[in-house]
Amino acid sequence: MDAFADVEDTGLDDDARDAFHRDVVAGLSAAPKTLPCKWLYDVRGSALFEEITHLDEYYPTRTELALLADIAGDLGAALPARAWVVEFGSGSSRKSDLFLNALTDLRGYVPIDVAGDFLEAAAAALADRLPHLHVVPVVGDFTAEIPLPPMLDDAPTVGFFPGSTIGNFEPAQAARFLARARRMLGDNAHMVVGVDLKKDLGVLLPAYDDAKGVTADFNLNLLDRINRELGGGFDRDRFAHRVRYDDDEGRVEMHLESTVDQTVRIDGHAFDFRAGETIHTENSYKYAVDDFHRVAGGAGWQAARHWTDADDLFSIHLLAAA
Ligand code: SAH
Ligand code: AVI
Repeated sequence: MDAFADVEDTGLDDDARDAFHRDVVAGLSAAPKTLPCKWLYDVRGSALFEEITHLDEYYPTRTELALLADIAGDLGAALPARAWVVEFGSGSSRKSDLFLNALTDLRGYVPIDVAGDFLEAAAAALADRLPHLHVVPVVGDFTAEIPLPPMLDDAPTVGFFPGSTIGNFEPAQAARFLARARRMLGDNAHMVVGVDLKKDLGVLLPAYDDAKGVTADFNLNLLDRINRELGGGFDRDRFAHRVRYDDDEGRVEMHLESTVDQTVRIDGHAFDFRAGETIHTENSYKYAVDDFHRVAGGAGWQAARHWTDADDLFSIHLLAAA
């Protein structure tokens, strides 16, 4: 978190603020109430997520990093030389060095993230660490098509989507994302995707409900963000962080539960909450390897190879444009 302690939050531009306003009004008017998880990531939310990745309970980051280190040679041999790497949801770019260093004669790196201020800081830090690397950050929302910088031209491309961020989509949305990434990256494309695996709830649930309360803070920050950026009137002390596993869907859900009956006003709108009612703020789907292959196969990608760690906690998939 320290590396990003001084990042200034300049807020959203007008279009993004309008989109945030629309999503909040629509999501809090719906039954059950819900908010898109991409809004968890303002500067504070991004820094809190980064803190989550260092928690003992949050196994995905350390497991994926160790697996990436183990398979770096395999990835370097399987992926084309002189490629551009396009990372979706790059956050702190903490995993990127390992991946970028595995590739031969890399042309450059395009980190894409919706959290603009945090992205700029992370890209600058990466450029300091890897001074010969051509870094072209793009602020954008990957739930829609994002034009890639023209210098990528006809060069080979490698999409990098670590962290199991793909699990934050419903499977049908994940398929749409992969099909869109396939169109954006072109015919000469590969993709490397980190996917969290199904596992014992004794391991899974604490990863989303840690003892220090960092994940609770990450979730509750969404209410503070609505107050800050949309003039909302949430009192975060009247909401609690809740986590549950939906076995049928195979997903961890994060919610914010109203602890009392209350009405919250946001920019002229009033939203009633019953005690116990929740706002569903995030899904985190957990896959079996075959299930992920079906999603990728339906989206124009051929599953070339995959690796898992010795404890079967996490998987990394190499996909090739079909
Ligand atoms: N890749 C990093 C960070 C994962 S956190 C890792 O593996 O640790 C998820 C990242 O995706 C955050 O940085 C968040 O800002 C970004 N993100 C979430 N939704 C997004 C969207 N719709 N478009 C672009 N970026 C998004
Ligand atoms: C970014 N994403 C993959 C994280 C996850 O595990 O679903 C976000 C997160 N939510 C709570 N803790 C971490």
